[in-house]
Amino acid sequence: MADLTTTFLGITSPNPFWLASAPPTDKEYNVRRAFEAGWGGVVWKTIGEDGPPIVNVNGPRYGVVYGADRRVLGLNNIELITDRPLEVNLEEMARVKADYPDRALIASIMVPCEEEAWKRILPRVAETGVDGIELNFGCPHGMSERGMGAAVGQVPEYIEMVTRWCKQNYDKPVIVKLTPNITDIRYPARAAKNGGADAVSLINTVSSITSVNLDTMSPEPSIDGKGSHGGYCGPAVKPIALNMVADIARDPETAGLPISGIGGVTTWRDAAEYMSLGAGNVQVCTAAMTYGFRIVEEMKRGLSQWMDEKGYTSTADFIGRAVPNVTDWQYLNLNYVAKAKIDQDACIKCGRCYAACEDTSHQAISMSPDRVFEVIDAECVACNLCVDVCPVEDCITMVPMTPGEVDPRTGKTVEADYANWTTHPNNPAAQAAE
Ligand SMILES: Cc1cc2nc3c(=O)[nH]c(=O)nc-3n(C[C@H](O)[C@H](O)[C@H](O)COP(=O)(O)O)c2cc1C
Ligand code: SF4
Ligand code: SF4
Repeated sequence: MADLTTTFLGITSPNPFWLASAPPTDKEYNVRRAFEAGWGGVVWKTIGEDGPPIVNVNGPRYGVVYGADRRVLGLNNIELITDRPLEVNLEEMARVKADYPDRALIASIMVPCEEEAWKRILPRVAETGVDGIELNFGCPHGMSERGMGAAVGQVPEYIEMVTRWCKQNYDKPVIVKLTPNITDIRYPARAAKNGGADAVSLINTVSSITSVNLDTMSPEPSIDGKGSHGGYCGPAVKPIALNMVADIARDPETAGLPISGIGGVTTWRDAAEYMSLGAGNVQVCTAAMTYGFRIVEEMKRGLSQWMDEKGYTSTADFIGRAVPNVTDWQYLNLNYVAKAKIDQDACIKCGRCYAACEDTSHQAISMSPDRVFEVIDAECVACNLCVDVCPVEDCITMVPMTPGEVDPRTGKTVEADYANWTTHPNNPAAQAAE
């Protein structure tokens, strides 16, 4: 069985699955149970300044987007940082770290954007013996209106400044948790690196309104007839997060900066995808909230089995492996030609591919009177839509044409050479360069 041991920022954990800062990591009771279930690490629910505890709403704090089978696809929340006293959290962290020295324990922190506030809390966190800190610059609701969370994460200068304060006043690794509520994630990541961050973690939640109750005309979750925007997470946000992780991994200015991947990780495959795009480990929240702590067993088993199949002996073997294959559109090979192919034995004759291609794509699927569906190669542009809407897995496949064959759609011979938009004759910029 493959060894899942992962070292991230010099912190070794028995596997790359950490719980993200959120309700699953809000208190000693939870974290102990999480470690007993097998999680490799935990980022404790964000702690704030000493003083009157944070106040949460006393009504629903979650909204959900369901799939057709009522599976949770997206989760929205309006919860704030921990509402338990700082001292209690610190005492609990110290006890848990002492009892689980082989697990990663990170303190997530959010205090006002003032150096004195950070100088006050950092020595107290250091005393607990946790392995590092994560700066919560991501929370998009409630705390951001108070000048914290995403309000800091959206201003690269603030990120750099606060990160530098933390590096000056804390000896162990500093992870900067980024908000996705920004146009180009490379700028906050660069700011974190310039401030001395040891790593970035992303994403925190996406600003969102999940739904509107059409009887009360109030956004959900609704508190006494009113709703406010919340933070969206779960499987629905994974594509957004993967793209941002890849952007940071391949940006020359941040290349090599360790990344902790967060957003919709539900299976071992999700984790492997994040890691292949450069994440050194992953953090999980919604999946644990939906299915409980023991979901980590499936994640560990699946990842280990896949690694065995691929011949990877450690997670380091595949971390970042997909990064060189992420490119910009202009560098995609325009000489690559494929055609859709329908497996008639697998087809259940539902007609979805026909409707999609006929109405919204390229009229490249024919339907006979007895409902036999066939691809018309002379029309097919290989857009893949039929594959995406077909309810039978692998019933429609995309088959690459062999160089030397003639594409019946264009009448051109498929070339073996690679050619992209930068040199394409239709590209005005390429013509000007000649
Ligand atoms: C109810 C709830 C509370 C959260 N609280 C925090 C928090 O206190 N600090 C923080 O950094 N992130 C917080 N998050 C964000 C998660 O740590 C994580 O970044 C996000 O949920 C994406 O991961 P997921 O798709 O696995 O849920 C919270 C998320 C949820 C759902
Ligand atoms: S790949 Fe696109 S164009 Fe080709 S048959 Fe499918 S939907 Fe139509
Ligand atoms: S969508 Fe798939 S199963 Fe349905 S008709 Fe087309 S090929 Fe057959």
